[in-house]
Amino acid sequence: MKPVRILFVCLGNICRSPLAEGILRHLSQGRPADVDSAGTGGWHIGDLPDHRSIAVARRHSIDITGQRGRKIDAGDFEAFDLIFAMHRSNLATLRSLAPPAARHKLHLFLDYTLGAERDVPDPYHGGPEGFEAVYSMLSEGCLSLIGRLEEAGS
Ligand code: 4NP
Repeated sequence: MKPVRILFVCLGNICRSPLAEGILRHLSQGRPADVDSAGTGGWHIGDLPDHRSIAVARRHSIDITGQRGRKIDAGDFEAFDLIFAMHRSNLATLRSLAPPAARHKLHLFLDYTLGAERDVPDPYHGGPEGFEAVYSMLSEGCLSLIGRLEEAGS
């Protein structure tokens, strides 16, 4: 079966979306899934994830140090089947960039996965507890996503 190709998008691609990518990879081990992440901004191209995201992932036995920051590009709208924005501001940016044929691929992550019209908040300027809260939201969403993909036969 063709794997579902999933892209997580936040602003910088160093805090939330790399964590989401790491969690989904970890949870979907052995199942077919192509997963990646990107930022709408280009400040952290080539950078490691933020040390606080690396730390929270490590506390949950997930290694995200192989990831490097990148900016979303036009090809991503074709290359992925589901494109998840962490925040409504990211979704608005994606909608402004996506070709009309790809608009159906864009979703707010917690809305699609948990039916909650909530953002995954930007933890960049806060403390470590914000990263733990982000981790919890992302893992709950990713678990639900895996169940939903399995139900759909992916
Ligand atoms: P992220 O967090 O979007 O979850 O990666 C941020 C990282 C960097 C910046 C903003 C948010 N920044 O302004 O550099």
